[in-house]
Amino acid sequence: MTTSRAEWRRSRAGRVVAVLAGLGVLGMVMGAWVAALNVRGEAPLRPEATRAPATAAQVAQGAYLARVGNCIGCHTAPGGPALAGGRAVTTPFGTVYSPNLTPDPVTGLGAWTSDEFWRALHHGRSRDGRLLYPAFPYPQFTQVTREDADALLAYLRSVPPVVQPQRPHALRFPYGTQAALAVWRALYFRPADALPRPVPGQDATWQRGRYLVEGLGHCAACHSPRDRLGGVRDEQAWLGGPMPAGDWVAPSLADPQQAGVQRWPLETTARLLRDGTVPGASVSGPMAEVVFASTQHLTPDDALAMARYLATLPERPVARAMAVQAPAAQRELGQRLYTRHCTDCHGDQGEGRPGRFPALAGNRAVTLADPHNVLQMIRHGGFAPSTAGHPRPHGMPPFGHVLDAEAQAAVATYIRQAWGAPAPAISALEVLRLP
Ligand code: HEC
Ligand code: HEC
Ligand code: HEC
Repeated sequence: MTTSRAEWRRSRAGRVVAVLAGLGVLGMVMGAWVAALNVRGEAPLRPEATRAPATAAQVAQGAYLARVGNCIGCHTAPGGPALAGGRAVTTPFGTVYSPNLTPDPVTGLGAWTSDEFWRALHHGRSRDGRLLYPAFPYPQFTQVTREDADALLAYLRSVPPVVQPQRPHALRFPYGTQAALAVWRALYFRPADALPRPVPGQDATWQRGRYLVEGLGHCAACHSPRDRLGGVRDEQAWLGGPMPAGDWVAPSLADPQQAGVQRWPLETTARLLRDGTVPGASVSGPMAEVVFASTQHLTPDDALAMARYLATLPERPVARAMAVQAPAAQRELGQRLYTRHCTDCHGDQGEGRPGRFPALAGNRAVTLADPHNVLQMIRHGGFAPSTAGHPRPHGMPPFGHVLDAEAQAAVATYIRQAWGAPAPAISALEVLRLP
């Protein structure tokens, strides 16, 4: 009796050991696989002496590309010196602080070779080999050509050096670990081919637009939804999603009822990118920052090329839920508030005033099913970006301190339902839930 029990224990222990050993081997194989995926496509780094010094044309080209990629927007702290880093970039997993890109040899890029810079942009790896967080949009920047990367570095080397050490990131465990990042990269990141492969059957303008939108412009960083691990799945591309801070949503570029421009004349899209406003649409919130810092500087040709590519994104409209009409009491309250606070600028019928105040009737930013953006506008107000084509935008005053949650919900619901196809009503609870 005792012997057989001891044997049974031994054999059970043997099985446990075998399973653990098996898991250990599996873990090592997976680990090796994740590690291999993290360095795929990387060439050995060469010493800098093998490269020619920068030309003035290269520096100018780099300055332009830095605008297109909005390096300054993310790498400049509010009120701080340009490109010296320290700006907080919010992610669902904590805060990442942008590094110093000025040519200071200790705290900036001064000692970086162009191979090292290329590896950061193309492979998402820092000079010391550390894996970088995708809050730095290298999943898009990996598309950038070596020539453009070298021009960017030539420009960054030409700006005044600033001594500003790195602020440590504040990410929750385990997201701050290199192991977590390695797994994330194995799941979601693939470096692009070193030379971009043209898509057959499309002309040069379209290819240029694709290169800018998918690469340096990193439009997908906001306009593609992220899953729970913060990754973008190919089949979800361009469907829109919430901004990490939870305040605004980036609408879908695949849905003409949201931000899709498939049915717009190309000139209109190009003008929206360069001016920030066109009849019937006006950028606000995070998109106003993108236009201000980045797309207003696009050459007319590049803006048109982007428009051309955006117009060919496959349409994937979301089926609209039947909008529930607001109860009579909310409708009356909304109408009263609208007449009192909004008609002066936006007009009795929400028709707006061309070039000054956007129309609210037929404005897709107003009828977007998700209520975040419309409520942000009402609560905080805002300015369209000041651009060459629209240098002195009028402002919209904030109403957060004038109207309580119930009143904000009522006026928002009113402008969504008063003119034409109604959008879902908004409740006071939704207003209170807003960050
Ligand atoms: C959306 C914000 C954002 C934009 C836009 C952005 N960066 Fe960054 N970048 C970051 C953050 C955040 C990091 C830090 C990542 C980390 O430490 O893991 C970073 C890291 C880097 C690094 C690595 C530096 C180091 O010390 O390891 C380089 C190089 C870099 N960025 C260059 C650029 C260039 C060039 C552009 C413009 C073409 C650009 N970035 C645009 C946010 C941004
Ligand atoms: C930092 C996040 C972010 C990035 C990067 C970004 N967008 Fe947006 N975009 C938004 C948000 C948020 C909105 C909704 C606010 C609004 O309507 O202006 C928006 C709105 C839009 C709209 C609809 C404007 C309207 O009123 O109809 C278009 C078109 C658009 N974006 C195109 C682009 C393109 C093209 C790029 C790349 C060059 C880009 N976006 C990059 C966040 C972003
Ligand atoms: C003093 C003039 C003024 C008043 C009053 C005003 N607005 Fe505005 N509103 C503007 C301007 C200017 C913009 C464009 C700002 C921008 O693009 O960021 C705007 C934008 C908006 C938008 C976003 C439209 C878009 O295309 O993205 C909404 C929604 C809106 N207003 C609603 C309201 C409501 C509701 C009220 C009343 C409670 C109101 N506004 C009162 C001037 C005004």
